[in-house]
Amino acid sequence: MLKLENISYFVFENGKKKFILNKMNLLFDEKKLYCITGPNGSGKSTLVKIIMGIFAPSTGKIIFNGQDITSLSVDQRARLGFSYAFQTPVTFKGLKVLDLMNIACGQKNDLSSLCSYLSSVGLCARDYINRSVDKNLSGGELKRIELAMLLARNGSVNIFDEPEAGIDLWSFDNLTKIFEQLRSKTQIVVSHQNKILQKADCVIVLKNGNLEKIGTFEALQTIIQNDKCAKLRGDNERN
Ligand SMILES: Nc1ncnc2c1ncn2[C@@H]1O[C@H](COP(=O)(O)OP(=O)(O)OP(=O)(O)O)[C@@H](O)[C@H]1O
Ligand SMILES: [Mg+2]
Repeated sequence: MLKLENISYFVFENGKKKFILNKMNLLFDEKKLYCITGPNGSGKSTLVKIIMGIFAPSTGKIIFNGQDITSLSVDQRARLGFSYAFQTPVTFKGLKVLDLMNIACGQKNDLSSLCSYLSSVGLCARDYINRSVDKNLSGGELKRIELAMLLARNGSVNIFDEPEAGIDLWSFDNLTKIFEQLRSKTQIVVSHQNKILQKADCVIVLKNGNLEKIGTFEALQTIIQNDKCAKLRGDNERN
């Protein structure tokens, strides 16, 4: 179980403290799919980066299976089984898809398992394993390769930040099949898409860095619809 206790994150802007996240308390169980949603700028990416160890929280603790992991680095968390797919995928100049998949797994993959991971994200292994993971790949291809990496890693906590972004031509059904494949793990998915939110065991709605609501998709439908209209953090305050 992953537990967030009183997690806040603030920065200083023009000498003033600006809260990006405010006292978050959340529990993430095994074998459950959690979707985090909310308006642009509400703090979703910041929250998942804190869970992965990319950002250190300003206050609070992160407990994983009874261990305080707040001060652990990204690498250390990765060794505990945390995996992360960025909202904007990162490139690895000089690394081929094949190398990346082997690093993700911690072992050499045979062609058939590579085929299986890559075909799960709609890519043919033969066409891609020798491609360099750089800017020559399209945004959608990079995104899919990152998703395939998470599948290959088969970690215990899988975090996806807007996995649907940039893969518009690929059916959502394929994307949700990835979540099915990782069903035995903890999955935390940041998304704005109802088709993904519907698959969640629990939807977490953020607003202005606060936990607005938490519950099933059905129970939160009205709030989710309203959030879609509030394009930017603080819209309500300005209107
Ligand atoms: N270092 C920083 N200094 C100032 N503001 C920051 C900093 N880091 C993040 N923010 C602000 O914090 C807010 C939350 O950012 P975050 O990326 O977590 O939002 P998000 O919910 O993921 O939005 P989106 O749906 O657009 O991806 C934004 O308003 C962002 O501009
Ligand atoms: Mg984001």
